[in-house]
This record gives sequence, C-alpha cells and structure tokens, in this order.
Amino acid sequence: MTTIIKNVQKEMDKLQKEIEQFNYEYYVLNASTVDDGVYDAKIKELLALEHEHPELINKNSPTKRVGGFVSDKFQKVVHSTPMLSLGNAFSMQDLEAFDRKIKEVFPQATYVCELKIDGLAMSLFYQNGEFVQAATRGDGVTGEDVTENVRTIRAIPLHLEEPKTFEVRGEVYMPKEQFVRLNQTRQEEGNELFANPRNAAAGSVRQLDSAIAAKRGLNMFIYGTNMETYNQLTKTGKHSELLKQLQDLKFPINKETQTCKTMKDVQNYIEVWTKKRESIAYEIDGIVIKVDQTNMYDDIGYTAKAPKWAIAFKFPAEEVETTIEDIIFTVGRTGQITPNAVFPPTLVAGSTIQRATLHNEDTVVMKDIRIGDTVVLRKAGDVIPEVARVVFDKRKENAQPFEMAKICPSCGHTLYRDEQESAHYCINPNCDAKIIGSLAHYASRNALNIDGLGEKVIQTLYENNLIRSFTDLYRLTYEQLIVLDRFAEKSVLNLLKAIEDSKQQSAEKLLFGLGIRHVGEKTAKILLQKYHSVQNLQQASKEEIQAIFGIGEKIAESVCFWFADEACQQIIVELERFQVKLEYDGVEIRSNAFLADKTIVVTGTMEQMSRKEIEQMLESMGARVTKSVTKKTDFVVYGAEAGSKLQKAESLGVTTLSERELLEQI
Ligand code: IVH
Repeated sequence: MTTIIKNVQKEMDKLQKEIEQFNYEYYVLNASTVDDGVYDAKIKELLALEHEHPELINKNSPTKRVGGFVSDKFQKVVHSTPMLSLGNAFSMQDLEAFDRKIKEVFPQATYVCELKIDGLAMSLFYQNGEFVQAATRGDGVTGEDVTENVRTIRAIPLHLEEPKTFEVRGEVYMPKEQFVRLNQTRQEEGNELFANPRNAAAGSVRQLDSAIAAKRGLNMFIYGTNMETYNQLTKTGKHSELLKQLQDLKFPINKETQTCKTMKDVQNYIEVWTKKRESIAYEIDGIVIKVDQTNMYDDIGYTAKAPKWAIAFKFPAEEVETTIEDIIFTVGRTGQITPNAVFPPTLVAGSTIQRATLHNEDTVVMKDIRIGDTVVLRKAGDVIPEVARVVFDKRKENAQPFEMAKICPSCGHTLYRDEQESAHYCINPNCDAKIIGSLAHYASRNALNIDGLGEKVIQTLYENNLIRSFTDLYRLTYEQLIVLDRFAEKSVLNLLKAIEDSKQQSAEKLLFGLGIRHVGEKTAKILLQKYHSVQNLQQASKEEIQAIFGIGEKIAESVCFWFADEACQQIIVELERFQVKLEYDGVEIRSNAFLADKTIVVTGTMEQMSRKEIEQMLESMGARVTKSVTKKTDFVVYGAEAGSKLQKAESLGVTTLSERELLEQI
C-alpha cells in the first residue's frame, strides 16, 4: 500500500468511527451531540472517498446503512442453538407458581424484569468485532438471512471496539410514530395498511430491496444471547451483568430493565408498566421475568419450546368506555352484510379506533347495542377491537332498539338472511361493493399480493370501467392508467409490473384469491396438494373432494358450485390464456399407507431431523400432526427427553414409535 492510500484508508477509518459514534448517540442514547449538517457533511466526505477508492470500501461502512442491496430470496440459516419462545403468565398466581418452582431448587435466585417488546426476534452474529449476519427466528431452529436489511438499522453497531466473536439476540421493532407515518403513506398510495407495528416491522425486515427497509425507521433492543456468550462476557454469570457488558459494547439495551430481588419488586414493576405502557415510543405486550443467575439455567431446565427460567407476563385486555355514534352496514366480497359500530376516535391498547365490527344481527340484538349507547370497547394485543358490553346505567331514555338493514347499502337489492349462519347477504351478482371487495381480495397480501392495488385504486379502476373481473387486471395498459387522476408514471409502471409478477404467484395463493366460499389459505393448499393444478380440481367430483382428509362437505359443495358456474369456468380459461400459474409447485402429498389420515403427535428432541422437519414430512405423507395427546391420537413419535406427552400416550394405550422406528416404517 502506498503512503497516499494508507492515509486515505486512515481518513476513511476516522470518518467511519465518527459517524458510528454520532449514530450511537442519536439512535441508542437519544442524545445527539452534533446537528444534522455536521452529520451529513461527514457522510458526504466518506461517500466521496469511497467513490474515489472503491477498493477500500468496508462492507460495514455507515454509508451502507441506506441499503440498496436486492436479495433474490433469503437464504436459510440454522441457529447455533434454537431460538426459543417464552411461557406465558396471565395473573399474579401464574407468576407465583413460576417463582415457587424456581425457589424450590434455588431459594437464592433473583430476577431481572424487562419490557416485552412487540416486534420480531432476531439473532446478530459478530466475527472479530464485525457484524456479519442477521437471522430471523423462523421456526426456532432455522431462520432466514436478513443481514442486508438489518444492517440498515442504525442503532446496531457494525464494528465493535473489541474483536469479539459472538452472537446476540434481541427484538427488531418499529416505533409507534414510524408506524403511523408508514401507514399514512401507504393509505395515500392505496396500499394495504399494516395491522400493527409488529407486522410492519416483520414486513420491512423481509423486504427484498434493503433500500426500502432502510426507510422504514426500524430499531432494535438486544435482550440476551446464548450460553457460550454469557460465559465469554460475564464474570459473575449474571444476566444483568451481560446486559451491562453489551451496553458498554454500545449495543442498544432497553433502559427500563430492572433487577428485582423479590416477587414484590416484580409485582411493582408490572404495576408501573401496566400503567405506563401507553406513554413510551414503542409497543410492549408484557413483561419478561428472567432468573438473573445464568449458572442456574441448565438445572432449572427447558420445555420443548421455552426456558423454565423465564416467563412472559401478558398485559390484560385493555378496556375503555366510548359512545356509539352510529351503526353502519358494510358489504363484504361474499355479499355478507356486517353492522359496524362507529365511535369518536378512541385510543385502546395502542391504536386509535373509530369502528368495530358488530358481526351480525344476532350479536347486536343479544348484547342489545343501540345508537347513542355508552359501551365498553376491549382490545387485547393483536386481537381486533370488540364492543364487550353496553353500560346500561348510562343509556339515554330515547335510545331506539337496533334494526337490521333490509336492503344492500351498495346496490339496494333486498337482503337474504341465511338462518344457519345468522348472516344477511346481498345476492345480486352485479353488486358493485361485492365486485370491488372480491377484486381487493384477489390482490391482497395473502392472495396474489399485488402491491399498489389496494381498495382505493381498485375503486378508481372500477369506476373508470377498466376492471370488472380478475382477468381484466391482465388487460390493463399503460395508456389506460396514465390518464387517470393521481397516477404518476412511476406508479403506473410499478402497478403493471406487480400485476405481471402476480402471474408467477403460487397456485394455492391464486386458488385462495378466487374467493371461493369456505376455501381459506390452508384449504387451498390441501386441495392443490391433492390435485396438483386448478384445472384438475375443476374436474373433481364432490364425493372425491369430500374424501380428502381435512375437507368437509361444506367446502366440497362450495368448490363444485363455483366450478360449475359458466362465468367462473371462463375465468379459469382466461387465467390460463394469460399464463397465470395454475400448477402447484409445493410439496405434494406422497400418500403413505401407514401414515395417511393418521393423527400423530411428535415430542422430544429428534436426532436425524428437526422436529419441525419430521412434522412437515408426516403432513406431506397425508398425516395430521397435532399438539396434544388424546384417545384419538393414532401414534406418538418420540425423541430424546420426551416428557409428559409420552407418559400420557402410554397411559392411554396410544401406540408410540421412536424416531428410528418411524423412519424404518416409512
Ligand atoms: S427473552 C429464551 N426478552 O418475546 C428466551 N424475549 O414470546 C428468549 N421478546 O421470541 C426470549 N421482548 O421475540 C426475551 N425482553 C425480552 C423480549 C423478548 C420481546 C419476544 C421474543 C420472543 C418472544 C417470546
């Protein structure tokens, strides 16, 4: 290396260190020491040097935080040790039972209380002090390599001050403010909204283009590691010491973490945070209580899924009072009419609610909900908000009993009540709301996943007579779209590309997207595993379909009804013509006489394959895998250290098979 190059390298190293320090102060300490101008100037300087000397660019340079790496798909990563989850406690009694079990063996144990961040678990790997890999939890054993996206999270150190090789684990999350902003933009652009910050964070981490992930404002807290790293980093073998050491290495550690000597301290911590949770910048869904002394972990032990030395206390469902301003009716894609309560904006469990479904006429009548009533609105974590009950003491004298709509609010057609489902339907096949709803379903994330084709855009296309059925989407042209209001060139090109890409979406998603009644995602997959293509399924009789394990009469009838309709048959012909994928390319059922239609429970640690792999293999051979052992279980497959499930199988006389016996059988 010449002296000039050495000096450039030195200058680049210096700039990198300075910028990383600014990032640390801003994103981890929340206390910036420089203003944006200084920060931007340093970045510019570093970018200029990197431009002149691309050979000196470091993969972990802070300029790489803006992303721009496009991944084909995410590589699988097998975790060094499984990424476990946590057992739940819903009451103080549950927590006392947890404490009792630990104190029986270790009366001297103390605890660390942490906030349970509502995001997604992530493992970060460092080699000689350099960040080299980030992996999602996946099924706990195998995750996905999302290094390029996670690199854009500015709170994560890319170089450590010491050349350590270790793994840390934590939670990637999206702050509430970022979440609201992201959804606002998505709404303006006609994209589907994320239900909560956790889904938004997970969606961002799995973006193929890291430049998009970089703009999503993700953040992370580190909350632990594996045993090897505990031994490497701590002298006292305490979790609290590990967190301190990681903090010194500039990892983002949650500052609300607290050591608790007694259960009384734990209870206080929970009480404080149950009240305070709304006031912080990120969502939490509970409190994690961990034994502080890591050398006790092995003796306290593990269940198949979670350590016994830690537990998650889940916050109770939050309830608030609000008033019902109106009850309005909406039309779903199947024509089902749903009454919805309308409130003034009401904050409950972290989200502002203005509407809640009242499901159907019977629910409203049973709860005697009326316009003008004061009601209790309840929301627990992910659960959709619901009107729990009316506060009858506050009912106004003139409140009128609820009346169900008689005609469709969209097309005015008389409604039909299905007594079995206690639901009202609009049966007009030309009802606008039904058609728009079914097109939105076709384009939705779990179906054909056509980005940019949300309900608003569909409505615009529909009102301009450009689409009437799914297949019209494949006829849309640049010229038709560019003349529409609010369609800039870029959005037109993106939309056309997303529609074109949807032709390659898997056939089970397409089948789900067709919106056949009772055919959900799982059913669509089962049907295609059996018939391999949508066209083959079209030829199947009701009796044949009904004979498939896991498919009932209602589904079989509905599938045959759909395919018997001429307009529906035409859709399939046209989809074929547009070369939309109709063949299944997932794992096919290779029906195995020994396993087909059997109910099987897998327990314990396996040797040849992971438990997940065994379960998938059994399902692919036609078996049904369930979690608990009952009299109806056909076999229990057991590995090492199988516990209560194996005992239960023996006591019920259920056939048990070791992993080797199972493999020999098949
Ligand atoms: S410890 C072996 N600590 O909660 C124990 N988990 O329901 C591993 N989580 O998958 C987890 N905040 O993604 C731990 N302070 C915290 C946490 C936390 C959020 C998540 C984590 C885990 C899930 C378990």
